[in-house]
Amino acid sequence: MLDHLTAYFTDHGLPVEDFSLRLHAPGRINLIGEHLDYNGGLVMPASIDKGLQFFARQLDAPQLRLHAVDLNETHTLELPQLEKTGITWVDYLVGIARKFQQLGKTIPGLEIVFGGNLPAGAGMSSSAALEGGMAFLLNELTQSGLSRPALAQLCQRSSNNFMGIPSGIMDQFASLNGTADGPMLLDCDRLEFRPIVNRIKGYSFMLVNSMVSHSLASGEYHVRVRECAAALAAIQTRFPSVANLSTATREQLDSVAEKLDEKPLLRARYVIAENARVQAALRALEAGDGPEFGRLLNSTHAGLRDEYEVSCPEVDFLQERAVASGLVAGARIMGGGFGGCTINLVRAGREAKLGELLTAAYREAYQLTPECYRANIGSGTYLMS
Ligand code: GLA
Repeated sequence: MLDHLTAYFTDHGLPVEDFSLRLHAPGRINLIGEHLDYNGGLVMPASIDKGLQFFARQLDAPQLRLHAVDLNETHTLELPQLEKTGITWVDYLVGIARKFQQLGKTIPGLEIVFGGNLPAGAGMSSSAALEGGMAFLLNELTQSGLSRPALAQLCQRSSNNFMGIPSGIMDQFASLNGTADGPMLLDCDRLEFRPIVNRIKGYSFMLVNSMVSHSLASGEYHVRVRECAAALAAIQTRFPSVANLSTATREQLDSVAEKLDEKPLLRARYVIAENARVQAALRALEAGDGPEFGRLLNSTHAGLRDEYEVSCPEVDFLQERAVASGLVAGARIMGGGFGGCTINLVRAGREAKLGELLTAAYREAYQLTPECYRANIGSGTYLMS
Protein backbone atom coordinates (compact mmCIF):
# COMPACT_ATOMS: atom_id res chain seq x y z
CA MET A 1 0.00 0.00 0.00
CA LEU A 2 1.34 3.41 -0.93
CA ASP A 3 2.34 5.55 2.04
CA HIS A 4 0.13 8.51 1.28
CA LEU A 5 -2.89 6.17 1.10
CA THR A 6 -2.10 4.73 4.51
CA ALA A 7 -1.88 8.27 5.85
CA TYR A 8 -5.25 9.15 4.30
CA PHE A 9 -7.00 6.31 6.13
CA THR A 10 -5.45 7.40 9.41
CA ASP A 11 -6.15 11.09 8.92
CA HIS A 12 -9.79 10.48 8.02
CA GLY A 13 -10.45 7.92 10.75
CA LEU A 14 -11.27 5.23 8.20
CA PRO A 15 -10.68 1.63 9.40
CA VAL A 16 -8.36 0.35 6.69
CA GLU A 17 -8.90 -3.28 7.73
CA ASP A 18 -12.56 -3.01 6.68
CA PHE A 19 -11.54 -2.12 3.15
CA SER A 20 -10.84 -5.69 2.21
CA LEU A 21 -11.30 -5.51 -1.54
CA ARG A 22 -8.01 -4.10 -2.76
CA LEU A 23 -6.63 -3.82 -6.22
CA HIS A 24 -3.96 -2.20 -8.29
CA ALA A 25 -4.75 -0.75 -11.73
CA PRO A 26 -1.68 0.35 -13.71
CA GLY A 27 -1.08 3.13 -16.18
CA ARG A 28 0.32 2.33 -19.59
CA ILE A 29 2.98 3.34 -22.05
CA ASN A 30 2.79 2.79 -25.77
CA LEU A 31 5.97 1.83 -27.60
CA ILE A 32 4.56 2.48 -31.06
CA GLY A 33 1.24 2.54 -32.93
CA GLU A 34 -0.22 5.91 -32.03
CA HIS A 35 -3.76 6.95 -32.95
CA LEU A 36 -4.33 3.57 -34.49
CA ASP A 37 -6.68 2.05 -31.92
CA TYR A 38 -9.78 3.88 -33.15
CA ASN A 39 -8.62 3.12 -36.69
CA GLY A 40 -8.65 -0.63 -36.12
CA GLY A 41 -4.87 -0.91 -36.25
CA LEU A 42 -1.98 -2.50 -34.40
CA VAL A 43 -0.62 -0.95 -31.23
CA MET A 44 2.18 -1.92 -28.86
CA PRO A 45 1.30 -0.80 -25.34
CA ALA A 46 2.48 -2.11 -21.98
CA SER A 47 1.11 -1.80 -18.47
CA ILE A 48 3.62 -0.08 -16.18
CA ASP A 49 4.68 -0.31 -12.56
CA LYS A 50 2.89 2.91 -11.67
CA GLY A 51 -0.85 3.10 -11.22
CA LEU A 52 -3.82 3.54 -8.95
CA GLN A 53 -4.67 1.50 -5.88
CA PHE A 54 -8.30 0.95 -4.92
CA PHE A 55 -9.61 0.00 -1.47
CA ALA A 56 -13.30 -0.80 -1.13
CA ARG A 57 -15.77 -1.83 1.54
CA GLN A 58 -19.47 -2.47 1.34
CA LEU A 59 -21.86 -0.11 3.15
CA ASP A 60 -25.32 -0.77 4.53
CA ALA A 61 -26.49 2.60 3.20
CA PRO A 62 -27.37 2.72 -0.54
CA GLN A 63 -24.55 5.11 -1.28
CA LEU A 64 -21.43 5.37 -3.36
CA ARG A 65 -18.89 7.17 -1.18
CA LEU A 66 -15.80 8.04 -3.19
CA HIS A 67 -12.46 9.37 -1.98
CA ALA A 68 -9.86 10.64 -4.46
CA VAL A 69 -6.82 10.73 -2.20
CA ASP A 70 -4.49 12.53 -4.61
CA LEU A 71 -7.01 15.34 -5.06
CA ASN A 72 -8.07 15.24 -1.42
CA GLU A 73 -11.69 15.22 -2.58
CA THR A 74 -14.67 13.17 -1.43
CA HIS A 75 -17.99 12.76 -3.19
CA THR A 76 -21.09 10.83 -2.16
CA LEU A 77 -23.84 9.69 -4.52
CA GLU A 78 -27.16 8.06 -3.70
CA LEU A 79 -27.85 4.69 -5.28
CA PRO A 80 -29.34 3.42 -7.46
CA GLN A 81 -30.00 6.56 -9.53
CA LEU A 82 -26.59 7.60 -10.84
CA GLU A 83 -26.29 10.79 -12.86
CA LYS A 84 -23.43 12.75 -14.32
CA THR A 85 -22.00 15.17 -11.75
CA GLY A 86 -19.75 17.35 -13.91
CA ILE A 87 -16.78 16.34 -11.72
CA THR A 88 -14.52 14.47 -14.09
CA TRP A 89 -13.04 11.89 -11.75
CA VAL A 90 -16.45 11.12 -10.23
CA ASP A 91 -18.00 10.78 -13.66
CA TYR A 92 -15.37 8.28 -14.79
CA LEU A 93 -16.42 6.06 -11.87
CA VAL A 94 -20.14 6.73 -12.27
CA GLY A 95 -19.94 5.87 -15.98
CA ILE A 96 -18.56 2.42 -15.17
CA ALA A 97 -21.14 1.82 -12.42
CA ARG A 98 -23.91 2.72 -14.84
CA LYS A 99 -22.59 0.25 -17.40
CA PHE A 100 -22.89 -2.50 -14.78
CA GLN A 101 -26.40 -1.33 -13.93
CA GLN A 102 -27.27 -1.51 -17.62
CA LEU A 103 -26.13 -5.14 -17.54
CA GLY A 104 -28.78 -5.68 -14.88
CA LYS A 105 -26.36 -5.69 -11.95
CA THR A 106 -27.17 -4.14 -8.59
CA ILE A 107 -24.42 -1.90 -7.28
CA PRO A 108 -24.24 -2.39 -3.51
CA GLY A 109 -23.59 0.46 -1.08
CA LEU A 110 -19.89 1.06 -1.41
CA GLU A 111 -17.06 3.21 -0.10
CA ILE A 112 -13.99 3.46 -2.28
CA VAL A 113 -10.67 5.07 -1.47
CA PHE A 114 -8.24 5.37 -4.36
CA GLY A 115 -4.99 7.07 -5.21
CA GLY A 116 -1.67 6.32 -6.78
CA ASN A 117 1.66 7.36 -8.19
CA LEU A 118 0.84 8.11 -11.81
CA PRO A 119 1.76 11.62 -12.86
CA ALA A 120 -1.53 13.15 -14.08
CA GLY A 121 -1.60 14.70 -17.54
CA ALA A 122 1.61 12.95 -18.56
CA GLY A 123 -0.13 10.66 -21.02
CA MET A 124 0.24 7.49 -18.95
CA SER A 125 -3.51 6.99 -18.81
CA SER A 126 -4.53 7.68 -15.26
CA SER A 127 -8.11 7.83 -16.57
CA ALA A 128 -7.85 4.32 -18.02
CA ALA A 129 -6.51 3.08 -14.69
CA LEU A 130 -9.47 4.77 -13.00
CA GLU A 131 -12.02 3.21 -15.33
CA GLY A 132 -10.32 -0.16 -15.49
CA GLY A 133 -9.86 -0.32 -11.71
CA MET A 134 -13.52 0.50 -11.10
CA ALA A 135 -14.66 -2.03 -13.70
CA PHE A 136 -12.46 -4.76 -12.20
CA LEU A 137 -13.75 -3.93 -8.74
CA LEU A 138 -17.43 -4.01 -9.71
CA ASN A 139 -16.88 -7.19 -11.70
CA GLU A 140 -15.60 -8.81 -8.51
CA LEU A 141 -18.28 -7.37 -6.24
CA THR A 142 -21.21 -8.18 -8.49
CA GLN A 143 -19.66 -11.51 -9.53
CA SER A 144 -20.35 -10.63 -13.14
CA GLY A 145 -17.63 -12.88 -14.52
CA LEU A 146 -16.65 -10.53 -17.36
CA SER A 147 -13.31 -11.31 -18.97
CA ARG A 148 -10.58 -8.68 -18.97
CA PRO A 149 -11.04 -7.88 -22.68
CA ALA A 150 -14.79 -7.54 -22.03
CA LEU A 151 -14.07 -5.17 -19.15
CA ALA A 152 -11.89 -3.08 -21.46
CA GLN A 153 -14.75 -2.89 -23.96
CA LEU A 154 -17.13 -1.84 -21.19
CA CYS A 155 -14.68 0.92 -20.19
CA GLN A 156 -14.39 2.11 -23.76
CA ARG A 157 -18.18 2.28 -24.09
CA SER A 158 -18.32 4.33 -20.91
CA SER A 159 -15.63 6.72 -22.21
CA ASN A 160 -17.38 7.05 -25.57
CA ASN A 161 -21.01 7.22 -24.52
CA PHE A 162 -21.00 8.53 -20.96
CA MET A 163 -17.90 10.73 -20.89
CA GLY A 164 -18.28 11.77 -24.54
CA ILE A 165 -14.64 11.02 -25.40
CA PRO A 166 -14.36 9.13 -28.72
CA SER A 167 -11.17 7.32 -27.66
CA GLY A 168 -10.07 3.89 -28.76
CA ILE A 169 -9.60 0.84 -26.57
CA MET A 170 -5.82 0.77 -26.20
CA ASP A 171 -5.41 2.40 -22.79
CA GLN A 172 -8.00 0.43 -20.86
CA PHE A 173 -7.05 -2.75 -22.67
CA ALA A 174 -3.38 -2.41 -21.76
CA SER A 175 -4.15 -1.51 -18.15
CA LEU A 176 -6.41 -4.53 -17.70
CA ASN A 177 -4.63 -7.13 -19.81
CA GLY A 178 -0.95 -6.26 -19.57
CA THR A 179 1.68 -8.53 -18.06
CA ALA A 180 5.02 -7.79 -16.46
CA ASP A 181 6.72 -9.99 -19.07
CA GLY A 182 6.72 -7.44 -21.84
CA PRO A 183 4.68 -5.18 -24.07
CA MET A 184 1.79 -6.58 -26.06
CA LEU A 185 0.86 -6.47 -29.70
CA LEU A 186 -2.83 -5.63 -29.82
CA ASP A 187 -4.96 -5.80 -32.91
CA CYS A 188 -7.61 -3.21 -32.09
CA ASP A 189 -9.98 -4.47 -34.75
CA ARG A 190 -10.12 -8.10 -33.67
CA LEU A 191 -9.13 -7.46 -30.05
CA GLU A 192 -6.51 -10.16 -30.35
CA PHE A 193 -3.31 -9.68 -28.41
CA ARG A 194 -0.12 -11.43 -27.48
CA PRO A 195 2.87 -10.59 -25.32
CA ILE A 196 6.02 -9.65 -27.18
CA VAL A 197 9.56 -10.47 -26.21
CA ASN A 198 11.75 -7.40 -26.29
CA ARG A 199 15.19 -8.68 -27.33
CA ILE A 200 16.76 -5.25 -27.66
CA LYS A 201 19.87 -5.20 -25.50
CA GLY A 202 21.91 -2.18 -24.48
CA TYR A 203 18.98 0.24 -24.46
CA SER A 204 16.13 1.13 -22.13
CA PHE A 205 12.88 3.01 -22.57
CA MET A 206 12.66 6.31 -20.74
CA LEU A 207 9.82 8.81 -20.58
CA VAL A 208 10.40 12.54 -20.51
CA ASN A 209 7.44 14.59 -19.34
CA SER A 210 7.15 17.95 -21.08
CA MET A 211 4.95 19.13 -18.18
CA VAL A 212 2.59 20.75 -20.68
CA SER A 213 -0.87 19.64 -21.61
CA HIS A 214 -2.45 21.93 -24.17
CA SER A 215 -6.15 22.59 -23.89
CA LEU A 216 -6.86 21.85 -27.55
CA ALA A 217 -6.02 18.19 -26.94
CA SER A 218 -9.52 16.83 -26.45
CA GLY A 219 -11.15 18.95 -29.17
CA GLU A 220 -8.51 18.03 -31.71
CA TYR A 221 -8.82 14.35 -30.77
CA HIS A 222 -12.49 14.50 -31.84
CA VAL A 223 -11.47 16.20 -35.07
CA ARG A 224 -8.87 13.48 -35.84
CA VAL A 225 -11.47 10.77 -35.27
CA ARG A 226 -13.82 12.49 -37.71
CA GLU A 227 -11.11 13.12 -40.30
CA CYS A 228 -10.13 9.45 -40.24
CA ALA A 229 -13.77 8.42 -40.60
CA ALA A 230 -14.05 10.71 -43.64
CA ALA A 231 -10.96 9.15 -45.23
CA LEU A 232 -12.25 5.64 -44.62
CA ALA A 233 -15.66 6.50 -46.07
CA ALA A 234 -13.98 7.80 -49.24
CA ILE A 235 -11.89 4.64 -49.58
CA GLN A 236 -14.96 2.46 -49.04
CA THR A 237 -16.80 4.10 -51.93
CA ARG A 238 -14.32 2.35 -54.22
CA PHE A 239 -13.17 -0.53 -51.99
CA PRO A 240 -16.17 -1.57 -49.88
CA SER A 241 -14.33 -4.50 -48.34
CA VAL A 242 -11.82 -2.25 -46.53
CA ALA A 243 -13.06 -2.49 -42.95
CA ASN A 244 -10.83 0.11 -41.32
CA LEU A 245 -8.34 2.79 -42.19
CA SER A 246 -5.31 0.99 -40.78
CA THR A 247 -5.64 -1.90 -43.21
CA ALA A 248 -6.22 0.24 -46.28
CA THR A 249 -3.24 0.47 -48.63
CA ARG A 250 -1.51 3.62 -49.76
CA GLU A 251 -2.59 2.82 -53.34
CA GLN A 252 -6.23 2.62 -52.31
CA LEU A 253 -5.92 5.95 -50.53
CA ASP A 254 -4.16 7.59 -53.46
CA SER A 255 -6.87 6.40 -55.84
CA VAL A 256 -9.52 8.40 -53.94
CA ALA A 257 -7.27 11.34 -53.06
CA GLU A 258 -9.19 13.77 -55.27
CA LYS A 259 -12.36 13.07 -53.26
CA LEU A 260 -10.71 14.04 -49.99
CA ASP A 261 -9.88 17.34 -48.36
CA GLU A 262 -6.24 17.96 -47.58
CA LYS A 263 -6.41 17.18 -43.85
CA PRO A 264 -8.21 13.81 -43.94
CA LEU A 265 -5.81 12.78 -46.69
CA LEU A 266 -2.78 13.69 -44.56
CA ARG A 267 -4.21 11.90 -41.51
CA ALA A 268 -4.89 8.77 -43.53
CA ARG A 269 -1.34 8.76 -44.93
CA TYR A 270 -0.04 8.79 -41.40
CA VAL A 271 -2.38 6.01 -40.24
CA ILE A 272 -1.47 3.66 -43.10
CA ALA A 273 2.26 4.31 -42.66
CA GLU A 274 2.06 3.93 -38.88
CA ASN A 275 0.37 0.55 -39.10
CA ALA A 276 3.25 -0.65 -41.30
CA ARG A 277 5.74 0.83 -38.83
CA VAL A 278 4.24 -1.20 -36.00
CA GLN A 279 4.85 -4.38 -37.97
CA ALA A 280 8.42 -3.31 -38.70
CA ALA A 281 8.88 -2.39 -35.04
CA LEU A 282 7.67 -5.82 -33.98
CA ARG A 283 10.33 -7.42 -36.18
CA ALA A 284 13.00 -5.07 -34.80
CA LEU A 285 12.00 -5.73 -31.19
CA GLU A 286 11.99 -9.48 -31.64
CA ALA A 287 15.27 -9.40 -33.56
CA GLY A 288 16.87 -7.18 -30.91
CA ASP A 289 17.56 -4.38 -33.38
CA GLY A 290 17.68 -1.21 -31.25
CA PRO A 291 18.87 1.20 -33.96
CA GLU A 292 16.05 0.11 -36.29
CA PHE A 293 13.46 0.45 -33.54
CA GLY A 294 14.80 3.93 -32.81
CA ARG A 295 14.60 4.91 -36.47
CA LEU A 296 10.94 3.85 -36.48
CA LEU A 297 10.26 5.93 -33.35
CA ASN A 298 11.71 8.97 -35.11
CA SER A 299 9.56 8.33 -38.19
CA THR A 300 6.47 8.04 -36.03
CA HIS A 301 7.32 11.33 -34.40
CA ALA A 302 7.71 13.02 -37.80
CA GLY A 303 4.34 11.58 -38.87
CA LEU A 304 2.59 12.73 -35.69
CA ARG A 305 4.14 16.18 -36.06
CA ASP A 306 3.73 16.81 -39.79
CA GLU A 307 0.87 14.62 -40.98
CA TYR A 308 -1.29 13.90 -37.96
CA GLU A 309 -0.43 17.31 -36.45
CA VAL A 310 -0.80 16.35 -32.80
CA SER A 311 2.58 17.44 -31.49
CA CYS A 312 3.53 20.81 -30.01
CA PRO A 313 6.71 22.91 -29.88
CA GLU A 314 7.68 21.81 -26.36
CA VAL A 315 7.53 18.11 -27.20
CA ASP A 316 9.21 18.62 -30.58
CA PHE A 317 12.02 20.35 -28.73
CA LEU A 318 12.49 17.43 -26.32
CA GLN A 319 12.39 14.93 -29.18
CA GLU A 320 14.87 16.85 -31.33
CA ARG A 321 17.29 17.44 -28.48
CA ALA A 322 17.18 13.79 -27.49
CA VAL A 323 17.98 12.68 -31.02
CA ALA A 324 20.70 15.34 -31.41
CA SER A 325 22.34 14.19 -28.17
CA GLY A 326 23.37 10.89 -29.72
CA LEU A 327 22.26 9.18 -26.50
CA VAL A 328 19.10 7.67 -27.96
CA ALA A 329 18.32 5.33 -30.81
CA GLY A 330 15.13 7.33 -31.30
CA ALA A 331 12.33 9.21 -29.60
CA ARG A 332 8.77 10.28 -30.22
CA ILE A 333 5.75 11.90 -28.66
CA MET A 334 3.60 9.34 -26.84
CA GLY A 335 -0.16 9.21 -26.32
CA GLY A 336 -2.95 11.48 -27.50
CA GLY A 337 -0.68 14.48 -28.17
CA PHE A 338 -0.39 18.24 -27.55
CA GLY A 339 1.90 17.69 -24.57
CA GLY A 340 2.58 14.82 -22.21
CA CYS A 341 5.65 12.64 -22.57
CA THR A 342 8.18 11.61 -25.13
CA ILE A 343 9.26 7.99 -25.13
CA ASN A 344 12.97 7.54 -25.72
CA LEU A 345 14.98 4.44 -26.52
CA VAL A 346 18.11 5.39 -24.58
CA ARG A 347 21.53 3.78 -24.63
CA ALA A 348 21.86 1.82 -21.39
CA GLY A 349 23.70 3.74 -18.70
CA ARG A 350 23.11 7.06 -20.45
CA GLU A 351 19.65 7.74 -18.98
CA ALA A 352 20.88 10.15 -16.31
CA LYS A 353 23.04 12.01 -18.80
CA LEU A 354 20.08 12.40 -21.17
CA GLY A 355 17.93 13.66 -18.29
CA GLU A 356 20.54 16.26 -17.32
CA LEU A 357 21.02 17.45 -20.83
CA LEU A 358 17.32 17.78 -21.60
CA THR A 359 16.60 19.41 -18.27
CA ALA A 360 19.18 22.15 -18.86
CA ALA A 361 18.11 22.81 -22.44
CA TYR A 362 14.37 22.71 -21.70
CA ARG A 363 14.69 25.05 -18.72
CA GLU A 364 16.51 27.53 -20.83
CA ALA A 365 14.05 27.33 -23.71
CA TYR A 366 10.75 27.01 -21.84
CA GLN A 367 11.50 27.74 -18.16
CA LEU A 368 10.07 24.33 -17.32
CA THR A 369 11.71 21.35 -15.65
CA PRO A 370 10.89 18.08 -17.38
CA GLU A 371 10.38 14.96 -15.29
CA CYS A 372 12.08 11.75 -16.40
CA TYR A 373 10.84 8.26 -15.58
CA ARG A 374 12.15 4.80 -16.27
CA ALA A 375 9.40 3.04 -18.20
CA ASN A 376 9.24 -0.14 -16.15
CA ILE A 377 6.71 -2.64 -17.35
CA GLY A 378 4.42 -4.03 -14.65
CA SER A 379 1.43 -6.34 -14.27
CA GLY A 380 -2.03 -5.55 -15.57
CA THR A 381 -4.80 -4.95 -13.00
CA TYR A 382 -4.57 -7.36 -10.07
CA LEU A 383 -6.08 -7.98 -6.66
CA MET A 384 -3.76 -7.07 -3.81
CA SER A 385 -3.67 -9.20 -0.73
C1 GLA B 1 -5.29 8.51 -26.09
C2 GLA B 1 -6.53 7.64 -26.25
C3 GLA B 1 -6.18 6.29 -26.85
C4 GLA B 1 -5.34 6.44 -28.10
C5 GLA B 1 -4.17 7.40 -27.88
C6 GLA B 1 -3.41 7.68 -29.13
O1 GLA B 1 -4.43 7.95 -25.14
O2 GLA B 1 -7.17 7.45 -25.02
O3 GLA B 1 -7.37 5.56 -27.10
O4 GLA B 1 -6.12 6.83 -29.20
O5 GLA B 1 -4.62 8.63 -27.33
O6 GLA B 1 -2.78 6.53 -29.59
